[in-house]
Amino acid sequence: MKYDVNLLSKMKNVTPIAMLTAYTCPVARCLERAGIPVILVGDTVGMVEMGFESTRDVTIEHMQYHVGAVRRGAPNTHIIGDLPFNSDRDPEVALLNAQRLIDAGADSIKLEGPKYDVISHLVTNGMAVVGHTGLTPQTAENFKKVGVAEDDAKRILEEAVAIEKSGAFMLVLEHIPSHLAESITAYLKVPTIGIGAGSACDGQVLVINDAIGLGDYWPPFSKQYAQVSEVILAVAESFSREVQKREFPDNIVTLNVSGKR
Ligand code: KIV
Repeated sequence: MKYDVNLLSKMKNVTPIAMLTAYTCPVARCLERAGIPVILVGDTVGMVEMGFESTRDVTIEHMQYHVGAVRRGAPNTHIIGDLPFNSDRDPEVALLNAQRLIDAGADSIKLEGPKYDVISHLVTNGMAVVGHTGLTPQTAENFKKVGVAEDDAKRILEEAVAIEKSGAFMLVLEHIPSHLAESITAYLKVPTIGIGAGSACDGQVLVINDAIGLGDYWPPFSKQYAQVSEVILAVAESFSREVQKREFPDNIVTLNVSGKR
């Protein structure tokens, strides 16, 4: 079953929403099999998959490519497409770029920061929009927690309220104190999705590479449910050893879940 905006909205105060990012078809296929209700194709792809230093290097073409791949892997899952840096610089440009992500397979569009005119323009034009406040990596100088000082916490609360007012149906809260996320979650009617924002949010999102341990740096608020980098390393070492000893390909054993390739 595909979760639409209506269903996701009704989950607030009822069922916590589990969201993961995905960037590729086989990972999206796994997430759909696991029953994850929402996949975010985030611009984090630039850092965790493409080797960029910052999400600012991600383009709308990159995002179209990855949204398409995820959609092919997860045809029945709600997919949020992330507008990359500068692709939402004004309402008209944002609408054109959002439409490109919708055409590639996204059900809704996420954008960072207090761009109220952009959000309301997208919503007026029939798009479902997810806001994102707290730490906003496209414009942040570093990845430190925000909203710790009283005036910054006030700014983030005001931003959250204005993003909801502009028509967003969901809001990502990134790397803020848990008591602030709790106040925002209690105040807003739309579901909040936390990442590094404590357990009081209406849902949680993790970057898939962090969750599976694929990479070499983990944000302090992430959890590694597996160590996939170690698995890849072990596979590469075993393969190399077997080729050198002329064991492979004479020792092939098929381990596919389905039993076929
Ligand atoms: O781009 C992304 O993956 C995100 C999450 C970290 C929320 O915005």
